[in-house]
Amino acid sequence: MKINLTAAPPSKLETECLVVVVLDAADKAVADKAGAGKEKPAPSVVCDDAAVLAAAKEIIASGEVTGKAFETTLLHNPAGLKAKRLLLIGGGKVKSFSATELRKLAGAAVRTVKTKNLRSLVFAHGGGNGVPSPFAVRAIVEGAFIGDFDPGYYKSGKNKEDDQKIETLTIAGPGDAKSLETQLEVGRIVGESMNFTRDLVNEPSNLMTPTILAERAKKMASDVGLKCEVLGADKIRSLKMGAFWGVAQGSDEPPALIVLRYDPAGAAKNVHLGLVGKGVTFDTGGISIKPADGMEKMKYDMAGAATMIGAMRAIALLKPKVKVTAVVCATENMPSGKAQKPGDVQIAMSGKSIEIINTDAEGRLILADGLSYARKLGCTHLIDAATLTGAVVVALGYVNAGIFSSDDEMYERFVKALNQAGEKMWRLPLDDEYKDLLKSNIADMTNAGSRWGGAIFAAMFLKEFAEDTPWIHLDIAGTAWMEDAKPWIAKGPSGIALRSLIEFVQGWSA
Ligand code: BES
Ligand code: MN
Ligand code: ZN
Repeated sequence: MKINLTAAPPSKLETECLVVVVLDAADKAVADKAGAGKEKPAPSVVCDDAAVLAAAKEIIASGEVTGKAFETTLLHNPAGLKAKRLLLIGGGKVKSFSATELRKLAGAAVRTVKTKNLRSLVFAHGGGNGVPSPFAVRAIVEGAFIGDFDPGYYKSGKNKEDDQKIETLTIAGPGDAKSLETQLEVGRIVGESMNFTRDLVNEPSNLMTPTILAERAKKMASDVGLKCEVLGADKIRSLKMGAFWGVAQGSDEPPALIVLRYDPAGAAKNVHLGLVGKGVTFDTGGISIKPADGMEKMKYDMAGAATMIGAMRAIALLKPKVKVTAVVCATENMPSGKAQKPGDVQIAMSGKSIEIINTDAEGRLILADGLSYARKLGCTHLIDAATLTGAVVVALGYVNAGIFSSDDEMYERFVKALNQAGEKMWRLPLDDEYKDLLKSNIADMTNAGSRWGGAIFAAMFLKEFAEDTPWIHLDIAGTAWMEDAKPWIAKGPSGIALRSLIEFVQGWSA
């Protein structure tokens, strides 16, 4: 996507489609005070170009446009404008407008424009309405990339190469050219990295094996100047990663332990962030096999891995001054004559023994060794992302990802990043009382407990392997895949957690 900035008045821009935001300035408190009952919408166009306001005047006066979020109104040949079309896009209430809303609006504008078979647009931010212009530009660029992603890869005549992408986005509005330019680049890095991640997640498991995931990581690393090392089955066994290997042993596809290293000059002292990702390229459940219904979705069980690989891409390009290492455990979880069985005992790299109660609780097994390995590499802070449990979907639905943390200070830092990034996650507890659930008759712990509190059980299990290293666990099982399309994003991989992770890492920069 080519992206331009302009300070020219939007009415003077020749384009297929000029997009402006309409906000609803109606105030409930004022309406209540006046005893008006239901407040009437007060739509106002966020643009200080008189010609644009004039072009929208009639339709606004008609009452057809309210400013309700994602309402779209398309005018052809708008009088007084050089644009062929004017798209009014509702941004919701003035009061609740922020960069998060703007990002979604840009995604929605791109998706609307694409349904009209157009390949270019101008998005006028009109000074951002409270969002400082450089951050408005960044949000629009990120949103445009998010909206431009289409998961229909293998529809005939429409593969990745000739997918109908937006060719040119022009962002119009005031602001200091240099800071706008800088934030445009940040937005591009973040947006492209999100789509890089979503691309990995979208691929079916026959085309995204652990080996292919490792190759994609290697290629990305050489493109952006990261070090990448891939450890195969022999190395995984010789490192005594019994928990990881216990899962991998059942598959004909070899596993891969992917390590990406970012170690900049002048990095913050005594900080080494470790990003650990669950990369189950297909989860059948193993011998404790899953029901057929919906099993096809288990190709996205490597979303945590893809998120960490995408985050490393963004980090390499944004160059924060902090050392970061990603450890990605990639394998299939298959039933076979070689597969581990319920009742088996595996010894993890840390030396702890695990009784396998359910082979479908495989993510925690591979992450156990991933976390130990990241500690071994010297990471001072650990953060993992995983499509770990169905139970987190029961707890939080498809809206919030689950956050768990053993360290309040690290958690506070993460929440700041989360809010900055405009993503939704909710903290769940890790009280010692839950620890009883891990008890096994034969080993140090089991890998699966009761039906209740399943997401917490899984997190308690991981905590045994993060040990005393400050650690955050993100359970993205309900949020890594959009069950339905939204105005700003297609159905399919969401790219959740990547923006928060990038903000979080940048927060440690020296
Ligand atoms: N990959 C699944 C979790 C999952 C569920 C991801 C739904 C995405 C959507 C995980 O490996 C799993 O199977 N978890 C089991 C654990 C249980 C056997 C203790 C679960 O949540 O049912
Ligand atoms: Mn499973
Ligand atoms: Zn899984």
